[in-house]
Amino acid sequence: MKPKKYLGILMGLLTMEFILGMLVNLFGVDPGEGESPTIIKMAFATHGIIGLLLLIGGIWMAIFGLKATDKIVKKMALTAALGILVAFACGIATVSLQGPAREYASFAMAMGFLIAVSTTGRLISRV
Ligand code: HEM
Repeated sequence: MKPKKYLGILMGLLTMEFILGMLVNLFGVDPGEGESPTIIKMAFATHGIIGLLLLIGGIWMAIFGLKATDKIVKKMALTAALGILVAFACGIATVSLQGPAREYASFAMAMGFLIAVSTTGRLISRV
């Protein structure tokens, strides 16, 4: 499969991850404050599964970046891989922490997402 196709799949996964993450953020109930609706529980589970797929995609992205000869492609691919890694780690932190630390981790997850989606989008038009 050509890199452009892989990058397109990653963009699709990132888009789905954003939609599901926003659903959980806006309509999920914080732990200790009650139960989230079943559909939101399902959205959260799918968010976790896609997070794992993105982690695999991030590893591919890092290898792709390390192998790239074009300096800009290399920089962008490694930045995208880092963004995915940060988002994944902060996702785990979000569900493990409580109080303000949980909010910081959630914010950092969104920032990791932003870095990943913007660099992947630019990479698609360069490879
Ligand atoms: C590459 C992986 C991931 C990306 C790109 C990502 C992205 C996002 C985004 C954009 C949001 C909505 C904004 C926000 O609340 O921060 C979100 C929410 C959320 N994500 Fe992730 N996420 C990833 C992995 C994970 C993982 C592995 C978990 C936990 C197993 C997780 C748990 C959550 C939770 C609990 C929320 C709602 C946070 C809240 O209500 O404050 N995410 N995610």
